[in-house]
Amino acid sequence: MSIIFNHVYHSYDADTQLKTDALSDISFKIEDGEFVGLIGHTGSGKSTLVQHMNGLMKPTEGEVYFDGKDISDKDYPIKELRSNVGLVFQYPEHQLFEATVFEDVCFGPLNQGLEKKEAELRAFTALRQVGLEETTYYQSPFDLSGGQKRRAAIAGVLAMRPKVLVLDEPTAGLDPKGRDEILSLVKKLHDEEKITIVLVSHSMDDVANYVDRILVMNKSRLVYDGTPKEVFKHAEELEQMGLAIPQVTYAMHALKKAGFDVPTDVTTIDEAVDRIIKCIS
Ligand SMILES: Nc1ncnc2c1ncn2[C@@H]1O[C@H](COP(=O)(O)OP(=O)(O)OP(=O)(O)O)[C@@H](O)[C@H]1O
Ligand SMILES: [Mg+2]
Repeated sequence: MSIIFNHVYHSYDADTQLKTDALSDISFKIEDGEFVGLIGHTGSGKSTLVQHMNGLMKPTEGEVYFDGKDISDKDYPIKELRSNVGLVFQYPEHQLFEATVFEDVCFGPLNQGLEKKEAELRAFTALRQVGLEETTYYQSPFDLSGGQKRRAAIAGVLAMRPKVLVLDEPTAGLDPKGRDEILSLVKKLHDEEKITIVLVSHSMDDVANYVDRILVMNKSRLVYDGTPKEVFKHAEELEQMGLAIPQVTYAMHALKKAGFDVPTDVTTIDEAVDRIIKCIS
């Protein structure tokens, strides 16, 4: 499995005065098993980009390939693509619409053509995977808390057993505890279920602790693509784009300035603790 973007452009309201170029000349490749963070200021094109990954949107120009096949081809099986690439929307309210959480999570597998029993089994497994309490299964999804809604939306996608899970700002609006719980769940899905993950976020701190690779969008263009260490070297440029480097990286810069012999390319808290202990012992 791989996802390839080849010189992808996307314009909204093309051929009108309202034309907006949301994606300009985007090229990259995501391989099986990667954990990728997609970062960018508001309006930079992140949601537009990820909606191309499961065929909800098609490029205005350029190609998107899944497993070597162009998803814009006339006879491309888009339904199969939607099963393979599960997209959790930026606003869970856009995804949840059935009367109960359980029915909602059954929707995907039923739509895939599975028997009711099999779909229900998948739904139970997915709901357990995301750690939703059983008391919520038969409630309306709209009565859930923000964190529970996210979990229900993730379960709905997992029930389709996707190879790739794309999460568009899954931590927006959550408190720090809710945020850590969702990110730990995503990490677990990556580590244990070997699902390829694409995590969209505004927050450098969120992604730095979890991802292997970061794609940075700025004004419809992909400006950086590399490991967290490579990307955070561009601290000044990132700040100009309205993106901060992780707090822990700032802290290491401050320690260095104060005379401690610590590296400044640290991007995770664990690594920082390790390097500070080494420095003072
Ligand atoms: N349905 C639409 N019709 C017209 N323009 C749109 C539409 N959706 C997005 N845009 C515009 O396309 C650009 C990219 O939007 P997009 O939602 O992809 O950005 P984003 O990085 O996801 O932003 P955010 O961080 O706020 O979610 C913006 O200029 C936005 O105003
Ligand atoms: Mg968005």
